[in-house]
Amino acid sequence: MLRIACLVLVLALAPVAQAAEPTPVDFSRDVLPVLSDYCFQCHGPDANSRKAKLRLDDKASPFDRGVIVPGKPKESSLVERITSTDPNFV
Ligand code: HEC
Repeated sequence: MLRIACLVLVLALAPVAQAAEPTPVDFSRDVLPVLSDYCFQCHGPDANSRKAKLRLDDKASPFDRGVIVPGKPKESSLVERITSTDPNFV
């Protein structure tokens, strides 16, 4: 009898556990729109309006320039700038 009660409990909790699972971050859906809205003006595809050497629309650029260090957010200056509260340090 206890076994059946356990089984019922597990089945009842299963969908809850699944719902609590965080959705994985998707670059195109979650990250690109933010960069496009806030950063492409100066780091985007348009050479005329670009204000910096760094391009954020080109995947190789931030990695080549060491702006994003894969797996090491503390060493990535891009993360430092996004999380900074200093208005002069975008
Ligand atoms: C108003 C224009 C402007 C906007 C908007 C802007 N930046 Fe910049 N950014 C610059 C300039 C100018 C530089 C310095 C020039 C350089 O180093 O090539 C720079 C430099 C950087 C650097 C350092 C580049 C390097 O090679 O070390 C990073 C990282 C960066 N920006 C990230 C961002 C991110 C992320 C956003 C959006 C949240 C953003 N910027 C929005 C103008 C801008």
